[in-house]
Amino acid sequence: MMFHDEKGYRPTQQIFTEVPPKYDILNRILTLNLDEGWRRKTAAIVLENQPSRVLDLCCGTADLTMHIARLAAENTALFGLDFSHTMLKRASEKVSAFGKERVKLIQGDAGNMPFENDYFDSVGISFGFRNLTFENPDAALHIAEVLRVLKPGGRFVIVETSQPENKLIRSAYHFYQKYFTAPIGGLISGNRPAYDYLAYSANHYYSIPEISDVLLKAGFSSVGAIPLLLGATAIVTAIK
Ligand SMILES: C[S@@+](CC[C@H](N)C(=O)[O-])C[C@H]1O[C@@H](n2cnc3c(N)ncnc32)[C@H](O)[C@@H]1O
Repeated sequence: MMFHDEKGYRPTQQIFTEVPPKYDILNRILTLNLDEGWRRKTAAIVLENQPSRVLDLCCGTADLTMHIARLAAENTALFGLDFSHTMLKRASEKVSAFGKERVKLIQGDAGNMPFENDYFDSVGISFGFRNLTFENPDAALHIAEVLRVLKPGGRFVIVETSQPENKLIRSAYHFYQKYFTAPIGGLISGNRPAYDYLAYSANHYYSIPEISDVLLKAGFSSVGAIPLLLGATAIVTAIK
C-alpha cells in the first residue's frame, strides 16, 4: 500500500490535516448514521467510574468529546488531544457551545502527551486507536503513553472497527469497506488515499480477542468488550 512516511507504515499527519471539511458528514454516511450512537455509548462507559479528569485521545472534530461533555458531571475536567490543527479548529467550534473553559483542546502527539503520570481517571478514544496501532512502528509507545497518563484503576475505553466473528458477515463487511467506503469516501472528500487507508486498515485490523491480547500484553490488568453491528465495530474497555 502507499501509506508510508519516514517512520514506516502509518497514516500521516497530512492526511488528517486534509480530511476535515467533509469528515463529519462522511462518518455519518459510511457508518449508515450509526457512529454517533456508538460514541454516545462509549461516552457513558468512559464516565461510569465518575472520573474527575477525562481525556478524549485523538479527539478529531470532538464528536466523542461532545457526548462526554453532555453526560459528564459539571466538575469533571475534560481534555481533548489531537495532532491535526484543522481537526482541532472544528473541535473548538463545537465545544464552544459548552463555554470556552469547559473543554481544554490540546494539539499534541499521542506518543508524547503533555500530561503528568497518573493524571486521568478515564481516557476515551473513538476511531483513533486503529491509527495509533495498525502497522504503526510507534504502536507500543502509544499504548504505553495511555498507561502512563492513566491512574491505577483508571479506564481506557476504545470504540473502533473490529472483525465480525461470522465468516460470511466478515466477508460482506470487507467487501463494503473496499467497494463502498474507499470509493465513496474518496469521491466525497476528494482525498482517495485517506479513504483507501481507512478501508485497508479496517479490513486488516484486530478482532476482539486480538485487541484484548495486545492490551493485556501491554500491561492493562483486565479487558472487556461489547461487539456492535455484528462485530464490525466494538467498544473495548481496558483497566490499568
Ligand atoms: C479517524 S480520526 C477519529 C477522530 C474522532 N475521534 C472521531 O471519533 O471522529 C483519527 C484522529 O486521530 C488523530 N491522530 C492520529 N494519530 C495521532 C497521533 N499520533 N497523535 C495525535 N492525534 C493523532 C488524527 O489527527 C485524527 O483526528
